[in-house]
Amino acid sequence: MAKKLNSNLHTAKQQKNDEFYTQLADIEREMLHYKEHFIGKTIYCNCDDPEWSNFFRYFALNVEHLGLKKLITTHFVYSDMFVEGETYKLEITKGLDVNADGKIDFSDVVKTALKGNGDFRGSECIQILQEADIVVTNPPFSLFREYMAQLIKYEKKFLIIGDQNAITYKEVFKFIKENKVWLGFDNGGTKWFQVPDNYDIQTESRKKIENGIKYFSKGSIMWYTNLDHTKRHKSLEEIGLFKTYTPAEYSKYDNYDAIEVSKVVDIPIDYDGIMGVPITFLDKYNPEYFKILGLDDHRVDWRGRGPDINGTPIYRRIIIQKIK
Ligand SMILES: C[S@@+](CC[C@H](N)C(=O)[O-])C[C@H]1O[C@@H](n2cnc3c(N)ncnc32)[C@H](O)[C@@H]1O
Repeated sequence: MAKKLNSNLHTAKQQKNDEFYTQLADIEREMLHYKEHFIGKTIYCNCDDPEWSNFFRYFALNVEHLGLKKLITTHFVYSDMFVEGETYKLEITKGLDVNADGKIDFSDVVKTALKGNGDFRGSECIQILQEADIVVTNPPFSLFREYMAQLIKYEKKFLIIGDQNAITYKEVFKFIKENKVWLGFDNGGTKWFQVPDNYDIQTESRKKIENGIKYFSKGSIMWYTNLDHTKRHKSLEEIGLFKTYTPAEYSKYDNYDAIEVSKVVDIPIDYDGIMGVPITFLDKYNPEYFKILGLDDHRVDWRGRGPDINGTPIYRRIIIQKIK
């Protein structure tokens, strides 16, 4: 009984933590780099309440500008609060800013009731997913592994927001290693997300209220995608890599035949062997220059421990090698 209660409390906490909403400016800034992919495509926002999601808002206002075929969004309700008939799907083929005043006019949309609660994993939503070309959203971080696995399973193109830590989830890293997923443009740094008034924020500096709206700042937020973009094809010079290898400058690991490179800018461009680099390397990753061999010391059962130097474990390294 106590176990069930604990697990219910845990779920309730996760649900609460998942309720933070992306700002329109962050979506607009990222979307600048992908427009060619969207022409004639059906977009599905599957974690986006059309009443308030800025992903929905961005696409609904830009249907014509992006040349979309269709925008679909589903309204989700947590299963413990779900009442049948409450959820729905919206389909849009024309921009919803009828008066060109920047506001969405909902009068001209096709609205269909859903049977389930709009869970992205439910059969109705999977059917919509199969009809869609590209999924764009900020999914619940607590379900990120499952969320990404589903997109890959159904071979969908996507542009989604996640935490930097997700890189190190083995379920996600395997896709990165296989070049099925990479990072988008505007990664890292701090982003402010709108949160409900009762969202618990322990650190004062990560909280702000503007015009009565509460915001929470999160660091190390990344865009994850499988849409090609120009940043992924930058030359070594454009990436800012120019150093050459000297044995004196780079230590070798005790337990793995590779050199330690503690800063991405220090990656030696002429080193043919294996290198351990920080995970932020992925923000600069051009697959024409490097291949990704693994995470940390390359063990399958990775537990957060990196390779050692003089007996000291090095935290979180991606193992890479120059492509000859
Ligand atoms: C991080 S928030 C982002 C919301 C919105 N995409 C945005 O960026 O503003 C994730 C959202 O996913 C919703 N969600 C949680 N579990 C879900 C599920 N199983 N299926 C669909 N949506 C879910 C939550 O209600 C929450 O609003």
